[in-house]
Amino acid sequence: MNNFSDNRDFMKSGFDLPEREFVSDQEKGIAPPPIEKDIDDFIDIIELPKVEETDLKNKNLFSCLCARRSRRKYTDNAISLMELSVLLWATQGVQKIIPAYKKTGHISLRPVPSAGGRQCFETYLAINNVAGLKAGIYLYRPLKHEVAFLYMVEDLPAKLIYAYGGEDYQAEARWLGHAPVVFLWSCVPYRGEWRYHMEAHRLMLLDIGHVCQNLYLACEALGLGTCAIAAYVQKATDELLHLDGENEYVVYISGVGRLPE
Ligand SMILES: Cc1cc2nc3c(=O)[nH]c(=O)nc-3n(C[C@H](O)[C@H](O)[C@H](O)COP(=O)(O)O)c2cc1C
Repeated sequence: MNNFSDNRDFMKSGFDLPEREFVSDQEKGIAPPPIEKDIDDFIDIIELPKVEETDLKNKNLFSCLCARRSRRKYTDNAISLMELSVLLWATQGVQKIIPAYKKTGHISLRPVPSAGGRQCFETYLAINNVAGLKAGIYLYRPLKHEVAFLYMVEDLPAKLIYAYGGEDYQAEARWLGHAPVVFLWSCVPYRGEWRYHMEAHRLMLLDIGHVCQNLYLACEALGLGTCAIAAYVQKATDELLHLDGENEYVVYISGVGRLPE
């Protein structure tokens, strides 16, 4: 049997023994990091439609839960901007900002819970086919509910297929390359570490599960399909998004598309 037990230590009792002296930056009185990434290198900003105006195919949560499946077969038809707006809001939209309290920094409340409200993620979109949007890489700006068009990628489907399947699993990854939109969530670990030190890494990975589950349920409500992906090639995926792989890196992916009749 392989011995992985050292790698499990951070999940076990005793990891936070006093002699380890984990003192977070919050405890040291250091100012918190911002809620969302500051970007200045974008081509365009696109305001998203108000989610309240959407017409859901399935408004019943219980039937969405009953129907939820991972779906990898999509038609060539585009996703609408309204559908994209709902998916972004359901996964990372901001409902309320709680102003800084006891040095916690501003906290954003969203449809997904997050340990200590740290919300350590950025949502990138690889867009192949969303009505009204050019193909390319976008970043969701949750505070204003808008997307920033970052850059175009030559042969985006092939790059996505490689990011997921690498050299060896290109055929299996084909569906993702042609998905109308691919959600790629990065984490900015310092947002969690600032408050929770080492414990942050466990909490962030719990949090991202909530995010993707909301994508599944919102897709069911809209009559769209999605499938979570964790088996991607880390380096190729980080490079596709121009992430340094150190202070920001991809933690989860999910393709989204329109379902065949
Ligand atoms: C954490 C996680 C990682 C996953 N990674 C992949 C993946 O890399 N590729 C894939 O095709 N499906 C992936 N899936 C989808 C699972 O295969 C799917 O959820 C499972 O087979 C059960 O099917 P269901 O979601 O339709 O109930 C992943 C699901 C989860 C929750």
